[in-house]
Amino acid sequence: MLKIIIDGRSVECRPGIPVLQAAIEAGLAVPHYCYHPGLSIVASCRLCLMEMKMPHPKTQEMVWAPKLFPSCQTPVRDGMEVRFNSSAVQQNQKHVMEYYLLNHPLDCPVGDKAGECYLQDYAEQHGSASSRMIEEKTKNPKKDIGPHTLLYQDRCVLCTRCVRFCEEVAGDAELAVVNRGGRGEIDVFPGRPLDNALQGNVVDLCPVGALLDKDFLFKQRAWLLRSTPSVSPADSRGQTIWIDHNDGRVWRIRPRYNEKVNEWWISDEARFGWKHVHREDRLRQPRVRQDGQLRRETWEALPTLLRAQLQETARTDDGARVAAVLSPMLACEEAWLLATFIRGLAPRATLAIGPVPVVGQDQSFPKGFVIKAEKCPNRRGIEAILRQLGGATATFDEFCRKAVEGVFAAAYVYGGYPEAWVSPAAVEALSRVGFLVVHDLFDSTLTQAAAVVIPAASWVEREGCYMNCDGLVQPFERALVPLDGVKAEGQFFSELAARPGLFRAAKVREAMAETMPEFRDVFTPRPLPEHAH
Ligand code: FES
Repeated sequence: MLKIIIDGRSVECRPGIPVLQAAIEAGLAVPHYCYHPGLSIVASCRLCLMEMKMPHPKTQEMVWAPKLFPSCQTPVRDGMEVRFNSSAVQQNQKHVMEYYLLNHPLDCPVGDKAGECYLQDYAEQHGSASSRMIEEKTKNPKKDIGPHTLLYQDRCVLCTRCVRFCEEVAGDAELAVVNRGGRGEIDVFPGRPLDNALQGNVVDLCPVGALLDKDFLFKQRAWLLRSTPSVSPADSRGQTIWIDHNDGRVWRIRPRYNEKVNEWWISDEARFGWKHVHREDRLRQPRVRQDGQLRRETWEALPTLLRAQLQETARTDDGARVAAVLSPMLACEEAWLLATFIRGLAPRATLAIGPVPVVGQDQSFPKGFVIKAEKCPNRRGIEAILRQLGGATATFDEFCRKAVEGVFAAAYVYGGYPEAWVSPAAVEALSRVGFLVVHDLFDSTLTQAAAVVIPAASWVEREGCYMNCDGLVQPFERALVPLDGVKAEGQFFSELAARPGLFRAAKVREAMAETMPEFRDVFTPRPLPEHAH
């Protein structure tokens, strides 16, 4: 670690980082637009300028240099002394803000970024209450630059974060600065809209309200939202996210910095892949087949009913005719509770992993971001649990083959996929199981064939952990309470296994860790300092 002096205070910092980053990490709120630690440095916004001590050319004595330096472009050096709390620095901030506000429309009340807009914040902190501008403001029409994104050019400060992101991280270079000087503006090339698989990040990166997400536009004010840390189930990478929600609904998903997985970014799949949570056709009531019809049942009656039926089947062959399908959409704790419950009742039961959806190939981007082809969050976690429990295990195809042969008299099948997941052949195979329990999000031909249908909670209504494709175990929290009529899986599996009390994922993990050391330490990314990307 190096030591530098900022505003008279000694600060420890990592070698190689810019002074601005060191200042932010030390808790200083230095205004800046163009700097972002995940992008190249252009030092164009001139807001972060600082004073720095340099040797006097004649006396070599360390004195404050007469000009200001961009702190984002100046690497830390051991013993250097800089300051932001001088009048020269503050005058610069005031002048730069005056320049940025010259043509800025006074539309904060309707700005979608209001509440999290750095132009608003800095205007209030460093700007002036009145404008000296007497000329007509330049007006620019808003532009539709892609299927998900709008550009309000009037509000743009030309920090070029979005341009650099598209070039350096997404690798598509779809955005550019066109024209020069005061007429400079962000634009796409003719016939090439902003449509890469990471494009939503430009909206997060935009420090002002210039780039806006059509999906979120005018839906909520930022200050009404509560953010819950979570992990995206969109692919097996385990991208960490914030779920922004209010009034029992998810409104948007944003990246949560993660130095080991997705850094500052997320894929559009992770960003927009939550719509199934609020689908109208979600299952909302347990149902049990009586006289050939699925009839409503209470949650209270289900554990006794299921235990009795499964126990009855398990009496023959030490339970070899019982099976359970553990979907890779389940959290590790949930899968472990269900699997140990089934094995407890039927020691020779078959435990199968549900279908693992794969779409195309892994997609790699220039700076190392990867979108996995495997579109589920927890295959490795389920496999680890099955390995540890031992006994008969199967893939979903093997499970279906055995079902066709009439091997199983009872099966508990958990789905939980955001889209239709069972093929007609699988439905046909599973229809041969005498007592079929289907626990899923939506009605399907499979639920129509079941003896018991249990409504599943979506991942935003549950808590637990996923093990990603590299074996990293990451926890996620519950953002919403489950829909009316739905019970979270962890709680229901606890009741099924007659475990007393409320389900707490961390408690279950403790029990799991006794035999599976990989669940001893879950990885939680370090939080970034406030106001820092
Ligand atoms: S952040 Fe340093 S010049 Fe923009």
